[in-house]
Amino acid sequence: MEKKTKKSVTGFSKLSKEDKINWIADNFSNDPERLKKELIGFWHSSQNQQKILDGFSENTLSNFVMPYGVAPNFQINGNTYCVPMVIEESSVVAAASSAAKFWSTRGGFKAEIIGTTKIGQVHFSWEGDIAKLQKVFPVLKEKLIEDTSHITANMRKRGGGILDIELLDLTHLEENYYQLKVSFETCDSMGANFINSNLETFGKTLISFFKNHSTFEGEEKNVTIIMAILSNYTPDCLVRASVECDIEELGSFGEMNASVFASKFKKAITIARIDPYRATTHNKGIFNGIDAVVLATANDFRAIEACGHSYACRDGQYRSLSQCYLQGGRFKFWLDIPLAVGTVGGLTRLHPLANRSLELLGNPSAKELMSIMASVGLAQNFAAIKSLVTTGIQKGHMKMHLMNILNHMDANEKETTKAVEFFDGKDISFSSVRDFIQALRKENPIPTTK
Ligand code: MEV
Repeated sequence: MEKKTKKSVTGFSKLSKEDKINWIADNFSNDPERLKKELIGFWHSSQNQQKILDGFSENTLSNFVMPYGVAPNFQINGNTYCVPMVIEESSVVAAASSAAKFWSTRGGFKAEIIGTTKIGQVHFSWEGDIAKLQKVFPVLKEKLIEDTSHITANMRKRGGGILDIELLDLTHLEENYYQLKVSFETCDSMGANFINSNLETFGKTLISFFKNHSTFEGEEKNVTIIMAILSNYTPDCLVRASVECDIEELGSFGEMNASVFASKFKKAITIARIDPYRATTHNKGIFNGIDAVVLATANDFRAIEACGHSYACRDGQYRSLSQCYLQGGRFKFWLDIPLAVGTVGGLTRLHPLANRSLELLGNPSAKELMSIMASVGLAQNFAAIKSLVTTGIQKGHMKMHLMNILNHMDANEKETTKAVEFFDGKDISFSSVRDFIQALRKENPIPTTK
């Protein structure tokens, strides 16, 4: 491998995109021309659209593409949705679609918004008489609300704003540590910028309040703001998605009748409630669906994941987010999940395809989008558990895996048909497919372009 030399750089961010690509290619690639061609090859054909995409981040060289698909036939609260999903893992969209279709003939998904409250915190250090602070807190609260009224004006017009401000004395956990715990309603926006702007203003108000209020003396006039930031843990921004039918309506699965299926299914959910190793994989399956919709609508998938996993261990043990109940011949399966998402603001309307995703969903409110995401998560979970307790997961996965390997090998139509026939019911590995295709090509050389 050729040794490259100029691996550090100053002023990289000021270079033009072309110069950045040239520098990267010349210093880090074994095939600079190929790298340049491929990076440029993924640029958007419209300069305007590319400019928008470049603006989302820094030092952008190109676009990293992911499959954008849809899962049709989702019946949620009586509405039919064709749900856009961005995901690279094979079988996820197919599984969501099949679960959507399955439940569309059994009453569909029901989704209920339990709450939409979001949380922000101002963490501060203060040494003084807490009784004095508690006494003047109502005055401080009014001042905090007054000083942010210019920030909250528009949100208040839309029915949102600051819901409450609590003073928490946490000095038993950390010396001199106090917190303002603030709850917000941010309507159709995820609200991160709105919340953070309010909290930073609160920090300034706190400093001047302690300094100027006559109740505080000496050292008590000084407060140190440690930080002011929203919390991504939003257990009260919660949605419940559920499906329900008579056990008999579940139908049979190969040799397995509905009642055996239902009790195996319920057992699988119970295992994921009691065993954190299984719960993690179980919840990962739920997020396969949720993240795909979160990405397709340009919401913040890191925030959604962080919150979901915290919520999954809210009682001290990490557990399945979904639950199942069988009683009186009924099968009920549901998922409670906090989802702080937006349908305005952030990138939701800036990202060209996110905008189209929202359009495909009928331009939903944030509450409606929460309902859709939770239903897709539940559908994904249903499909995974159904496969696991019946055929096993590999059957569906292997089919997609085979197609990916065949694509990688540039297999033509004839080769693909033969490979699909040959590998039906067999274990698939990269080398077994490669050997099969190579043998075919030796025996009968056929042009390898599709
Ligand atoms: C794979 O991406 C997701 C599953 O492992 C989820 C599960 O096991 O429940 C199939």
